[in-house]
Amino acid sequence: MLENTVKMEKAGMSSATNSQERGQWSSRVAFILAATGSAVGLGNIWKFPYITGENGGGAFVLVYLACIAVIGIPIMMAETFIGRRGQQNPVSTMKKLAAESGASKLWSGVGWLGIIAGFIILSFYSVVAGWAIYYVVEMASGTFNSVTPAQTQEIFTGLLKDDKSLLLWHSVFMVMTAFVVSRGVSGGLEKAARLLMPGLFILLMILLAYAYNNGDFSKGIDFLFNADFSKLTGKSVLIALGHSFFTLSLGMGAIMVYGSYLPKNVSVAKTTFSIAFLDTIVALVAGMVIFPIVFASPELSASGGPGLLFQTLPVAFSNMPGGTFFGFIFFILIVFAAWTSAISLLEPAVSWAAENTKLGRTTSTVLISAVIWFVGIGSLLSFNDWSEYKLFGKNFFDLSDFLASNIMLPLGGLLIALFAGYAVTKTVSKEELNLGSKYDLWRFVIRYISPILVLYVFLEVSGINEFIRSTGVWKSLVAAF
Ligand code: PHE
Repeated sequence: MLENTVKMEKAGMSSATNSQERGQWSSRVAFILAATGSAVGLGNIWKFPYITGENGGGAFVLVYLACIAVIGIPIMMAETFIGRRGQQNPVSTMKKLAAESGASKLWSGVGWLGIIAGFIILSFYSVVAGWAIYYVVEMASGTFNSVTPAQTQEIFTGLLKDDKSLLLWHSVFMVMTAFVVSRGVSGGLEKAARLLMPGLFILLMILLAYAYNNGDFSKGIDFLFNADFSKLTGKSVLIALGHSFFTLSLGMGAIMVYGSYLPKNVSVAKTTFSIAFLDTIVALVAGMVIFPIVFASPELSASGGPGLLFQTLPVAFSNMPGGTFFGFIFFILIVFAAWTSAISLLEPAVSWAAENTKLGRTTSTVLISAVIWFVGIGSLLSFNDWSEYKLFGKNFFDLSDFLASNIMLPLGGLLIALFAGYAVTKTVSKEELNLGSKYDLWRFVIRYISPILVLYVFLEVSGINEFIRSTGVWKSLVAAF
């Protein structure tokens, strides 16, 4: 008993000294900008439009919005309050809160899972962000002036085949990310968010005005908001569920570590709503930019898969007045979005190393980024030299994406929901969330709704359910009842 108290005091003391070095967001707005920076990324501008395109448009958007409300927001609130309560990196935070609530120390494993997921995501995320930097440069140098679909396809596949060029842009992006993270919370993370996020919103508005004036706006809007439920399959619902995690940066400790820099007097619920709202608005506006521009060229279609941005869109731009200039702006927008997300993918690991080793922030950042950069090489080789190497039918890039986005994020999200709903005591969550009469609703959702839905997604997207189905266990269970 006494020993425990001494331990707790020690933990408390070390966190007090830590928080002086750790830094904090200077205000509520700084946190909202940084967390929105994390949430708004390639997911919004690259993934959301093409999965919407492939899953029938408006009906998919509705399901996606429902997922954000029922799973995204409650789990985001949980991650933020856990982080703020813990005031440390995700591993130490989980350990501390588990101790405070008398739960198992093993919960710190959730922090580890997150750090590793961030690690893997960043390794391939940086490769795709590198494509966007390449496109910024090529748009600026006029390569995409009046190109045909065949020519853009050639440029894109040419890039993917060119491992040296991919390595160059991947390296540039990793250096940009490491530079910001090494400068710490106020001089790095907050400063980047304060500069890049307003920039991102302005660029998006310019592009929206452009799409409105020069694109086929009504067709684009119709596609995005006109719900055709016949195109919606069970698989679409699953994609929407999974994407709601990815797009809000949930399940891997990014929001948790950002929450740990949040001043005590800020409302977790209100800020969470703002972040989820802004993220959703950016995804929808990105769609309102991309689809009208694509539909302005009758020969192009929106169901271009992952190539929508890098193949279809450049052709569409080149057919339009001032297209290369606006294409240039568009790809800068993608780089900004990816950059602020990448920072949050790196921060959990760096904060852990800075707080638990003697390395200091700068050295930790350099070492960890170097390892992530190295792993990323596997992803960029997947498009050329290693394209033949496959495991479970997936190359290194697809495998990294699958492992992190389909397995680790939903699993992390599930565990965070269970931790917040069952392990953390009611007193703690009630005090941190300060929701008044709405607290009971949050608690109900986080205990009964979110975990069941996330568990379902997890079992489906990881392939576990299919495996179980193939063994016939479900059938015999049903028969037994
Ligand atoms: N939310 C980011 C996006 O939409 C990706 C991300 C996932 C960032 C997890 C941080 C953590 O692109």
